[in-house]
Amino acid sequence: MYKYSVSILGTGFIGLCSAACFADKDIKVLASTHNRKKAALINDGKAPFYEADLQEMMDNIKKNNPEFLQCLTDPIKAVLETDISMITQGTPMRKDKSIDLGFIESTAREIGEALKTKDKYHLVVVRSTVVPGTTRNLVSKIIEEVSGKQPGIDYGLCMQPEFLAEGRSIEDTLQPDRIVIGEFDEKSGAMLQEFYEYFYGDHLENCPILRMNLESAELVKYGNNCLLSTKITYANEFANFAELVPNVDVSQVMKGVGLDYRINSRFLRAGVGFGGSCFHKDVNAIKAWSKSKGYPSRLLEAVLDINDDQAIHIVDIAEELAGKLAGKRVTLLGLAFKPGTDDMREAASIRVVNELLKRGIMDINGFDPKANETAEIELGDKIKYAKSIEEALKDSDCALLITEWDEFKNLKPDDFKKHMKNPNLVDGRRLYDYDEFNNAIPFRAMGRINLA
Ligand code: UGA
Repeated sequence: MYKYSVSILGTGFIGLCSAACFADKDIKVLASTHNRKKAALINDGKAPFYEADLQEMMDNIKKNNPEFLQCLTDPIKAVLETDISMITQGTPMRKDKSIDLGFIESTAREIGEALKTKDKYHLVVVRSTVVPGTTRNLVSKIIEEVSGKQPGIDYGLCMQPEFLAEGRSIEDTLQPDRIVIGEFDEKSGAMLQEFYEYFYGDHLENCPILRMNLESAELVKYGNNCLLSTKITYANEFANFAELVPNVDVSQVMKGVGLDYRINSRFLRAGVGFGGSCFHKDVNAIKAWSKSKGYPSRLLEAVLDINDDQAIHIVDIAEELAGKLAGKRVTLLGLAFKPGTDDMREAASIRVVNELLKRGIMDINGFDPKANETAEIELGDKIKYAKSIEEALKDSDCALLITEWDEFKNLKPDDFKKHMKNPNLVDGRRLYDYDEFNNAIPFRAMGRINLA
């Protein structure tokens, strides 16, 4: 067993995936959540949500080293019994779109309570996405106030942003491309670096550890998510340019752009726009933060506006293709924000449904291989939930591909001909071979139009 044990305060994607990866190596982990049901599941070796490879890893821990991963409902105990505490709580978006630091505040208070009675040096690491200044001015101030202890003397303080994407959380945790350590002082950063040198071993040959101050590390995470969102919006802007010129295809254009060694082609896939719990939340949070400091960001405003307008644009395309759709039936293939998850947060499908309803299109059939249930929680009776692709397409006047699930990849023009009243398709994710579909049924793909 490794010399330092770790408490993980918050058992969402980041928290539980880190906890499992550490415990699977031989690091003793005490996770903590106030949700008793969740804690019971984790202690039973069961992942409380779906994430690729997580359950297999938890099975392995349960079989070989069950003592390495325990989940408590008492964060104070978790902190007291470990050497390093990682804050992995959510930082959701408030109604006014700024960051909600409520969970971070209450966790800092719990750490303070624990440190009040602890004499040994303890390292606190913020891994949640937080706006610059939060670790020093909120987390550390609360810990100081509650515990009476001093950062840099009684406890160490780091901020380590997290870059894992849903659906690849385990892979991203085990094989990061860099580790960013924001440090209050040299001692704090050195202790966290030592921990990761042990955990990652040889992987660090290709994975630099960058050390910087707390605020720079906090801003790295926003730099990342804002640039990825901007790349997608940039591709969407060019998709809209491409549609101004017959026979220009944005996929080819972005391939040409992405092959530049200074750019790379990832996150240049145009379509109906980005969703998920992170991009909207983080772009809005840093935008609200910079505005509060007197610098409103015109760039990020445009990134969000253009993204949201893609949902209006796909409905425009659908009506160009199939005529006015009010009073007709429309099919949405895919509802989740991306394939491989049932997560509906900020999904493009929500914006598309709202736009359809605004235009008087009330007969909407949706189908998602994994997200029908979560979609129903989000969209209620705004749409109907089909149990199969066939049922979703039945008697439909227009089909829109919203999420590029593998289940939809193999569909052929004949499938649309067989089930729809008016066979046609708008490809909102550039999933299908353009010529194959365009030659067989009325077809439009975002980012390309053909000469009639
Ligand atoms: C994102 C980042 O990729 C992670 O690095 C980050 O750690 C995470 O947010 C976070 O802050 O927690 P995630 O939201 O899980 O991860 O999913 P992505 O794979 O980044 O996809 C986000 C959205 O962008 C999806 O709706 C996807 O369809 C869309 N997208 C992605 C495009 O429209 N075009 C692309 O080329 C790529």
